[in-house]
Amino acid sequence: MKKKVLFVCLGNICRSPAAEAVFLNRIHKEKLNNQFEVDSAGTGGWHVGRLADLRMREAALKRGISIESRARQISLKDFEDFDLILTMDNSNFADVNSLAKELGKTFKAKIRPLLSYSDRKDFTEVPDPYYGGDSGFEEVLDLLEDAINGLLQNMES
Ligand code: 4NP
Repeated sequence: MKKKVLFVCLGNICRSPAAEAVFLNRIHKEKLNNQFEVDSAGTGGWHVGRLADLRMREAALKRGISIESRARQISLKDFEDFDLILTMDNSNFADVNSLAKELGKTFKAKIRPLLSYSDRKDFTEVPDPYYGGDSGFEEVLDLLEDAINGLLQNMES
């Protein structure tokens, strides 16, 4: 059975599509791609259908990572479809949990902050880079690469 992983941020045009692409890149390199299904979504719907922010795509491409997904909004069905829902910041975590309550029943997905898989002590959230400068996008990628490393180790053990 494939493990289904959903990365979630606010707009689904910066952090979560980057997380999806970093994860896809890693599982491809490690020939684990047949073990996973991966997607990303936003708690908000403003950017539905759009490619990720150009700054995020360019920063990722410099690391050999291509971000190709288009934005979509999280839905109640996702809580039944996915095994693991990974949020980027405290606000996403709260929003996803309150959406889950609307289901009014138990569901399949575990909801976890992505950085709970990171060893870094300096960040507990992936900061929103949307209104900041270019260094914010590099920082996001550093955090994502580290946490996804920890996530994959956790899933293998
Ligand atoms: P993301 O960043 O949640 O990492 O995709 C954002 C993108 C757009 C907006 C907010 C955050 N926005 O307000 O439009």
